[in-house]
Amino acid sequence: MIKHQFFEKNAVFLLVGTLLTVAIGGIVEIVPLFTIETTVEHVQGMRPYTPLEMAGRDIYVREGCYLCHSQQIRALRDEVERYGHYSIAAESMYDHPFQWGSKRIGPDLARVGGKYSNDWQYAHLKNPQELVPESLMPHYAFLADTPLRLDDIQERMRTLRAVGVPYSDEDIAQASADIAAQANPTADTADLLKRYPKAVEVSAENGQPSEMDALVAYLQMLGTLVNFADTNTERLQQ
Ligand code: HEC
Repeated sequence: MIKHQFFEKNAVFLLVGTLLTVAIGGIVEIVPLFTIETTVEHVQGMRPYTPLEMAGRDIYVREGCYLCHSQQIRALRDEVERYGHYSIAAESMYDHPFQWGSKRIGPDLARVGGKYSNDWQYAHLKNPQELVPESLMPHYAFLADTPLRLDDIQERMRTLRAVGVPYSDEDIAQASADIAAQANPTADTADLLKRYPKAVEVSAENGQPSEMDALVAYLQMLGTLVNFADTNTERLQQ
């Protein structure tokens, strides 16, 4: 009782006492996190993006697709029924910055990969209203006429590596070959698929990949990597 009064009557001691108590609480919460390697659960199938997908992702960000599309399926029944398994942290572990978003003028795109054919994706990006007459989405036909910038791909991969994306030296050295393989349906993709399983091929019209080819490669990958059959995340799913 007396001790309590002492603290209450001395502002400095009260402050020091409060700080000490908060610090102990904070340490107890934070320290265990340093002893585990990562707070993101490792799951089967998640891999860094192919160089072409990565370039497509940069175009997605540049064009502001996130202003109308989220990439996070919430763990709510209506979302799961509409879009599929709710998003898990590992699915955006290689996204810098992540594209979760909260704005949905268009649908969530977290699992749009494989939902439509490549042809649909190209036609839709060129003229969305041709396929969905009531669509509000702008036209992106110019992306098909814009050659993809290739000279900075390796730099971009190195930058992502600096923030934790595990691209190996070989991945970076092979970037141009991987882009050529993914953007040419007749190319040999054995090497590409060994490094990046499930990479979807697109078809660059005149051999030179366009920005649209990269964007379609990216969209077709979204939500397809994680193998949910082998991942124990069924807690909320029924
Ligand atoms: C002004 C808002 C807006 C912007 C910006 C926008 N979209 Fe859309 N998007 C929509 C709307 C609305 C729909 C639903 C109608 C439709 O399918 O066109 C849609 C649909 C889509 C679909 C089909 C989704 C599905 O499950 O059916 C894809 C894929 C897509 N957008 C990709 C993109 C990409 C890539 C970009 C950026 C290059 C983009 N969108 C920019 C509004 C937008």
